[in-house]
Amino acid sequence: MKTPIRVAVTGAAGQIGYSLLFRIASGAMFGPDQPVILQLIEAPIEKALKALEGVAMELDDCAFPLLKGIVQTADASIGFKDANWCLLVGAKPRGPGMERADLLKDNGKIFIGQGQIIDAVAAADARIAVVGNPANTNCMIAASQAKRLPAERFTAMVRLDQNRAQSQLAKKAGVDLTAVKDIFIYGNHSPTMFPAFAHATIGGQPATKVINDDPWLQGPFCETVGKRGAAIIAARGASSAASAANALVDHVRSLVTPGAIHSVAVKSQGLYGFDANVWAGMPVRTTTAGSYEVITGYAMDAFAQSKIAATNKELVEERAFVADMIA
Ligand code: NAD
Ligand code: LMR
Repeated sequence: MKTPIRVAVTGAAGQIGYSLLFRIASGAMFGPDQPVILQLIEAPIEKALKALEGVAMELDDCAFPLLKGIVQTADASIGFKDANWCLLVGAKPRGPGMERADLLKDNGKIFIGQGQIIDAVAAADARIAVVGNPANTNCMIAASQAKRLPAERFTAMVRLDQNRAQSQLAKKAGVDLTAVKDIFIYGNHSPTMFPAFAHATIGGQPATKVINDDPWLQGPFCETVGKRGAAIIAARGASSAASAANALVDHVRSLVTPGAIHSVAVKSQGLYGFDANVWAGMPVRTTTAGSYEVITGYAMDAFAQSKIAATNKELVEERAFVADMIA
């Protein structure tokens, strides 16, 4: 039996938490032979902590063989203690008519304290994945607080956008979605994100040839993927939760699977036209469990360059907006 890994999850009693924890405990995130200890962190609010008790009771009631312990706490220094993975979900969701960046002033400050505490108490091999919106910039804020853990360990999730793009391409082409490969997300988790369709393939052929409709790819496709979160809020009255939890399972699963190629928002080193030190979605290849390299070889045409310039501009503006939160 392997040693259990410690997985800290913030916002554990929230919507995403409720779809996420059971998947982690069942083995979907770290594999069917990897035991886990869940360290569940909630805001110090009576209602949230009471709800967390209920979630922990349900986890018990699932009798998951891989679940070796549950910590419930409102104290982040207990919740992140010795954590190997820190999943930062806890933050306000947006409502109808809002953009994710409107959450920055409220949510950004959560990531200052959490970044500091993780750096102080998490395991030496800790990896951090940020979901709370606006995820890219919150991730940058958390990473900026860390003196011990390298910035590359802090990633933000654009996997939901990748999954959305894959699904839209498959529907348009009328194929099973497993036929769609190599669709990657560049930039911000916001309507400016760029799903780079020119590199995607469908059944081994270029997606642009199979779909043969550039106006659709450049227009409605990019728009549908970019505004899918808002469409879900309009339809459901609440932001995506099950699909977001599923994407986080995919994000981490791919990051612990050597050879996996997938979209992750990582600290930019200036590649693909992104400013250094913004967290931008790009394709990565997992090297060893938890580590990755950015895939550098994709050529960008004029359309792609203009889309990347727009999403980079937004990331730079968000960074300027939270300049006082960055260490
Ligand atoms: P929710 O309101 O249902 O749950 C959030 C939970 O976080 C609440 O239980 C709240 O008490 C808790 N919380 C707040 N501050 C906290 C703190 N400092 N420490 C610990 N817990 C804290 O929201 P949700 O639907 O679960 O969404 C959570 C976040 O994820 C939102 O910001 C949402 O916009 C974002 N989101 C991101 C993506 C993505 O693709 N990146 C997708 C969906 C949702
Ligand atoms: C999403 O993409 O579904 C989430 O980021 C939630 C939102 O605010 O759109």
